[in-house]
Amino acid sequence: MEAYMNKGIKEVIDQFPEVEDILNEYDIGCGPCSVGTCLLKDIVKIHNLPADQEQEMIARIAQTIYPGKKIEIPRVERKTKERTEKVTYSLPMKMLVEEHVLIKRLVALIPAIVENLDAKSEEGRQIILDTVDFIRSYADKFHHAKEEEILFKYFDDSLDILKVMYEDHTQGRGHVQAILEALDRKDETTIAKHLTAYGVLLSQHIKKEDEILLPWLDRNLSISRIGKLFKEFKEADDNIGYSASKYEAFIERMEAKFKK
Ligand SMILES: [Fe+2]
Ligand SMILES: [Fe+2]
Repeated sequence: MEAYMNKGIKEVIDQFPEVEDILNEYDIGCGPCSVGTCLLKDIVKIHNLPADQEQEMIARIAQTIYPGKKIEIPRVERKTKERTEKVTYSLPMKMLVEEHVLIKRLVALIPAIVENLDAKSEEGRQIILDTVDFIRSYADKFHHAKEEEILFKYFDDSLDILKVMYEDHTQGRGHVQAILEALDRKDETTIAKHLTAYGVLLSQHIKKEDEILLPWLDRNLSISRIGKLFKEFKEADDNIGYSASKYEAFIERMEAKFKK
């Protein structure tokens, strides 16, 4: 079993597809991951399940890999306390979680934007351009940049869990580029496809960050580093040259427009 704990998750799932269902039952959604090189033991550690659930999950995985055999269940080493029901965040992580709330409000508007998509009229095109501006200026430049250029630099950014986050950000940028190219061609089908895919990507991405990544990063930062991080986040916001309130106003306007 130890050998499988040290294998990349995609390799384990390829060999034993049932492992994906077991992980899903514990709310660990590795199946659709774009990277998949995280080691099984690291995934167990990062998700920080209560000890009894963790042992139960590993035992079920062991039974899938070695059916009917009695296997010694390896204990996953951890330096920090196991997860409690309520997640609390440090101040800098709270800033990111609050920014996620505004991004999730945009994600919630995407079905209505797609349903009313009009790439031919000036008003319809402006809605698409404003949505892209929100994604580029707020979700990406204001928010993802703090993660990529500041927060992730506090860690080894070749860590698999961070690679997954970078890859999600890159995929998001690809969808935005495709939306703009399709807008030039007035191709509403392609705009709808990429906008919808962006919404799905971001809602899964934010869930991973809120529930797994940010609490894990918090557990691995000292108080003094958290203070330094908070200061750097504030400086980044002050230096960006525009206020986030413009984007809150945009979301409010869109919510009022598409209110049922
Ligand atoms: Fe992110
Ligand atoms: Fe984020």
